[in-house]
Amino acid sequence: MMTPIFLFSLLSAIFTVGQSIVKPGSILTPTTKSSWLSPSGLYAFGFYKQGNGFAVGVFLARILQKTVVWTANRDNPPVSAKVILNFTSDGRLVLQSAQGAETSVANFRSASSASILDTGNFVVYNSNNLSIWESFQHPTDTLLPTQRLLADDFVVLKSSVSEFNQSTGRFRAVMQQDGYVALYPVGTSLTMEYGYWSTSSGIPNGSLNLDDHGFLYVTNSSFNLTISPSKNSAKGTVLYRLRMEDDGLLRLYSYNLQKPNGFVFIDESKRTLGCERNSTTENCNEKGMNITMEEVPGIIWENVTYSQSLLSTKQDCNDACLQDCSCEAALFNDRVCRKQKLPLRFVNIKIPNDPKAALAFIKIRTS
Ligand SMILES: *[C@@H]1O[C@H](CO)[C@@H](O)[C@H](O)[C@H]1NC(C)=O
Ligand SMILES: *[C@@H]1O[C@H](CO)[C@@H](O)[C@H](O)[C@H]1NC(C)=O
Ligand SMILES: *[C@@H]1O[C@H](CO)[C@@H](O)[C@H](O)[C@H]1NC(C)=O
Ligand SMILES: *[C@@H]1O[C@H](CO)[C@@H](O)[C@H](O)[C@H]1NC(C)=O
Ligand SMILES: *[C@@H]1O[C@H](CO)[C@@H](O)[C@H](O)[C@H]1NC(C)=O
Ligand SMILES: *[C@@H]1O[C@H](CO)[C@@H](O)[C@H](O)[C@H]1NC(C)=O
Ligand SMILES: *[C@@H]1O[C@H](CO)[C@@H](O)[C@H](O)[C@H]1NC(C)=O
Ligand SMILES: *[C@@H]1O[C@H](CO)[C@@H](O)[C@H](O)[C@H]1NC(C)=O
Ligand SMILES: *[C@@H]1O[C@H](CO)[C@@H](O)[C@H](O)[C@H]1NC(C)=O
Repeated sequence: MMTPIFLFSLLSAIFTVGQSIVKPGSILTPTTKSSWLSPSGLYAFGFYKQGNGFAVGVFLARILQKTVVWTANRDNPPVSAKVILNFTSDGRLVLQSAQGAETSVANFRSASSASILDTGNFVVYNSNNLSIWESFQHPTDTLLPTQRLLADDFVVLKSSVSEFNQSTGRFRAVMQQDGYVALYPVGTSLTMEYGYWSTSSGIPNGSLNLDDHGFLYVTNSSFNLTISPSKNSAKGTVLYRLRMEDDGLLRLYSYNLQKPNGFVFIDESKRTLGCERNSTTENCNEKGMNITMEEVPGIIWENVTYSQSLLSTKQDCNDACLQDCSCEAALFNDRVCRKQKLPLRFVNIKIPNDPKAALAFIKIRTS
């Protein structure tokens, strides 16, 4: 039932560190400034595309196909591009339509600041800088590392309708007071006849937790019971999330924070910051530099093409980039060669035979 899936690798180069403390008087709109970023830029809180309009939530900002981990008012219809998300001077967070109608985004008032943290938690503080509201305490379909699901029949993970529609779907995962972690369809009573999967932790009134190593466990602070074992990953190199899926399965996902050759992590202990080139020079004619192209199949990334041409072979594309000083990487797919500059963002290393994926050539400088 618990299926680990290893889907994406992501890489990003040279990022500016985002704003982290938001004050009353700040606004977001779907079309201009649409989100606030966590300090490393990994998570964002704000507008994302939903159907014909927009929803407000928390999502992984470094992945092109936005991975949503929390949604405000998930069962409300999408809002139009004309709304304003207003952190009002009296400390509320409201959506204001062009006609002036207000919808509360979360149930708090008199907040003094708010912050989207690198854990993916959107936290709201009072004037004493104490947390008065956290998205982690109001989960939708996802549990993130350091977030806990308490023994509560109402605060549960509920699946979304689909990957593209975060309205409440058909399944829920419950941390029960009797120590069971159990899955039920939405709309049934929490009794054995409706539960379709469960596991007993033997820990009454415990909480379900996910740690930074993908270790999923129930704890009551003096005793832990493992639901799924820890992965052999160093902290900060792999990103985990647990999701109640629209097909009724509870899945643990991992994102591998990797780099291609020729790049180094900006900060090895905080790989979510992204990568930069390990060579300082941008000049491809520099003496003593051996410049080669590294081939990486099955790549999709943000389209930052500055020049594209029809070329008959992959070698032609390789050479076109190699000979162009401005070219840092090239993508070759279906005889189209697309030359790219830095930064390369939202990299998704897919299975090589995905038709949308390209063969990438990345310029490597060796001294
Ligand atoms: C999402 O699904 C709900 C429930 O099926 C539906 O009412 C709503 O219109 C859908 N939203 C979008 C944007 O498609
Ligand atoms: C935000 O809301 C406040 C209070 O309702 C209002 O005075 C202010 O004009 C709004 N800001 C914007 C940019 O609309
Ligand atoms: C509030 O607390 C956080 C840490 O919990 C700290 O980083 C921040 O600077 C504090 N803000 C204020 C205004 O004291
Ligand atoms: C769990 O806690 C609730 C509320 O404190 C209490 O009523 C209930 O008896 C506890 N359940 C178990 C199995 O200990
Ligand atoms: C935690 O659960 C274990 C196993 O049920 C139990 O022996 C222990 O007393 C509990 N500890 C607390 C603090 O409730
Ligand atoms: C339970 O596991 C967590 C995560 O690994 C750890 O931090 C905590 O110390 C453990 N608690 C106990 C009581 O073993
Ligand atoms: C950059 O990294 C590559 C591959 O890891 C290595 O071969 C090369 O020597 C490095 N270049 C510099 C300038 O450090
Ligand atoms: C340049 O690097 C490539 C790949 O590492 C190597 O095969 C080649 O011999 C090097 N050329 C020079 C001139 O050092
Ligand atoms: C990438 O961008 C270029 C230039 O804006 C455009 O011509 C090309 O169609 C785009 N390619 C894809 C696959 O979106």
